Amino acid sequence: MKPSTLIFILLVTLALLLAQCQSPSGQPTGLTAAEKSTFLTKGKKIATETFAELSGRLAAALEQGGVAYAVPFCSQVALPLADSMGRANNVIIRRTSLRVRNPADAPLAWETSLLQQFATADQAGEDLQPLVQKLPDGTVVFAAPIRVQPLCLQCHGRLGETLETTDYAVIHQRYPNDQAIGYALGDLRGMWSIQFKE
Ligand code: HEC
Repeated sequence: MKPSTLIFILLVTLALLLAQCQSPSGQPTGLTAAEKSTFLTKGKKIATETFAELSGRLAAALEQGGVAYAVPFCSQVALPLADSMGRANNVIIRRTSLRVRNPADAPLAWETSLLQQFATADQAGEDLQPLVQKLPDGTVVFAAPIRVQPLCLQCHGRLGETLETTDYAVIHQRYPNDQAIGYALGDLRGMWSIQFKE
């Protein structure tokens, strides 16, 4: 066997060995397959329940008084709801985005890197899946993509098209640094972020 062939085989073996330590998304997770699956299941359940609660209340408020009524409602409900769902499940749950409406939702460093990872995969046309990771400080975190649905457009859509100018005046007054408009149906809006405390 030629030395170059031998080196090639060694490199391929090394690459395969390294690949085994990585999650499908290419990031080391530091979790066993069983732990990963447990945290994924928990994370999905908490995010789904919080989303159902939030969008149920949002839809009711929209029906009752339109965007002008639902926006103040949303800003009084979204964060406290996330807090109480978090306390009930012994986690910290947040909604975050690369373009936030409420500055309090701005991403933490680890959230930014996962948001960017989701955005890159989304641009490449990949199907985005929830994931879990262990941060360098040992905290286990869950992240799941949030996509724009029909209900969302009236507050996050294109100004003068799906988002009425008069409605936006209400939003902009409350959130003068809002970056969360211009979205279309199915766009990646942000992600659920869960930090497990145990
Ligand atoms: C009635 C208007 C309204 C509708 C409808 C609405 N949102 Fe929002 N959204 C807001 C407001 C207001 C905030 C800021 C909440 C706060 O102050 O905590 C927000 C915040 C968010 C955030 C947190 C990050 C940030 O930008 O602050 C995400 C993610 C989000 N919305 C996604 C959605 C999705 C997905 C939908 C549809 C299922 C949706 N929104 C529907 C008004 C709306």
